[in-house]
Amino acid sequence: MTTMMDERKFQALQDYCTRNVPRPPYAQKTKFGTYLPTPLVRARTAFEYLLREGIIREGENFLDAGSGDGRIVALACLFGLNGVGVECNPHLVETSETLLSGLNTRGILNRTPRIAYGDFLQDNTYQSLSLPFEEANVVFNYFNNHLDLARKVARQSRAGTRFLLYDWEKEACVFNGLEHIADITLDESCEERYRDDYLHVYIK
Ligand SMILES: C[S@@+](CC[C@H](N)C(=O)[O-])C[C@H]1O[C@@H](n2cnc3c(N)ncnc32)[C@H](O)[C@@H]1O
Repeated sequence: MTTMMDERKFQALQDYCTRNVPRPPYAQKTKFGTYLPTPLVRARTAFEYLLREGIIREGENFLDAGSGDGRIVALACLFGLNGVGVECNPHLVETSETLLSGLNTRGILNRTPRIAYGDFLQDNTYQSLSLPFEEANVVFNYFNNHLDLARKVARQSRAGTRFLLYDWEKEACVFNGLEHIADITLDESCEERYRDDYLHVYIK
């Protein structure tokens, strides 16, 4: 199992994001939410923990619901998952497509993952991904419309689907129909953050 990231590829991903996807100076409003990228170093720690503990597995379908610049989708693919994203901001969809195809061209990814433009709460958004929402084994979200998304997972996803909520709150929300199974504190120092972030993990 790929629990350790290939350091060279991770550095290449980080450099590529820094050079090509400037971090917004503050959170930016989008059609349905707010854009703020996850610090890659924290996301990497979360993936390593989840893989090590067997909470997620290589080859699983991973959906970043609200995929922003596509970095989490790229990271999921680097860890051997089948990453896809949905994003409601057309500029971010374009940015992420450029990022992901650039990573593929440079051999950092071995394919270009798909990003769908639209609302992740609507089933027809998933048509262009050729991956119905129900087929996602792992659903990630950086607290954007997460209450409705958790309801959708509880209602529609298969038993065993994991819901990963990236959060600023230490206390995990309770979602009907989902079992809260783990919390990860993400405190790796990174220039973007002066406080801890958390990943709350649920299973249907
Ligand atoms: C906090 S950003 C996180 C971006 C990326 N997942 C990451 O972790 O770096 C949340 C993103 O979700 C998008 N979003 C919020 N609600 C959405 C919805 N209903 N459908 C599609 N995208 C949505 C926002 O436009 C924003 O880009």
